[in-house]
Amino acid sequence: MKKIIVANWKMNPTSPKEARSIFMRIRNKGKKLRKVKTVVCAPFVYLEALAKIAHGASIGAQDTFWETEGARTGEVSPAMLKEIGARYCIIGHSERRALGETNEDINKKIKLAIDYRLIVILCVGERERDEEGAYLDFLKEELVQGLEGLPRRYFENLIIAYEPIWAIGEHAKGASTPADFLEQSIFVRKVLTELTTRGVAMSVPILYGGSVSEANAEGFLREGKADGLLVGRASLEPERFNEILDTANRTKGA
Ligand code: PGA
Repeated sequence: MKKIIVANWKMNPTSPKEARSIFMRIRNKGKKLRKVKTVVCAPFVYLEALAKIAHGASIGAQDTFWETEGARTGEVSPAMLKEIGARYCIIGHSERRALGETNEDINKKIKLAIDYRLIVILCVGERERDEEGAYLDFLKEELVQGLEGLPRRYFENLIIAYEPIWAIGEHAKGASTPADFLEQSIFVRKVLTELTTRGVAMSVPILYGGSVSEANAEGFLREGKADGLLVGRASLEPERFNEILDTANRTKGA
């Protein structure tokens, strides 16, 4: 299976010109790599223009809404995203959850996004670790409630990104470790098995996210056996991101 390397640009950059320039450099590298699927999740305002020049890379949104159209000021529906050429959509990123998004909201968003044949990247991950293991209950709840009632065939259009919140962003403690990710991804698959079947659970790609860099990417892919990576800060610097793409192209899971 191809490694899935996702750029999450968040609320960057501030001009379409810059967005285009970063994207072109990433796209040109991604095009040459056979074992990598390159996905760029950009702000809504850039998606249509980037989709027109995507050539081999895929375009994704960073959020969507749970209704198709209507009186919902400020929202963007999966129908609109599909129309302008987006193929992926991040849902449930911790930065959106921090603004009040609930597992119930996320569940509705996932269902409608997959109705519109978008591939959903569901982000899950705990805020902190505790000795008693409550973080595992938290993670399980995000998965169970986020995926509740999802038809089995919809799991074909689902990717899970495990992103512990303590590892995300410039104020983070730093990335997790490949061994820890491996353990967490086994737990995620166990929960997915309870929700579906072992076969379905094994086929859902699980990505690692949180302070991914050109220095630690290989570890997560090889020892951590990650199916891919979700990259924030480093995805805005094409040189760094392209190095991560190269690494993914030559790294086999252990
Ligand atoms: P980071 O962000 O790579 O800058 O830590 C990851 C994310 O939030 O998706």
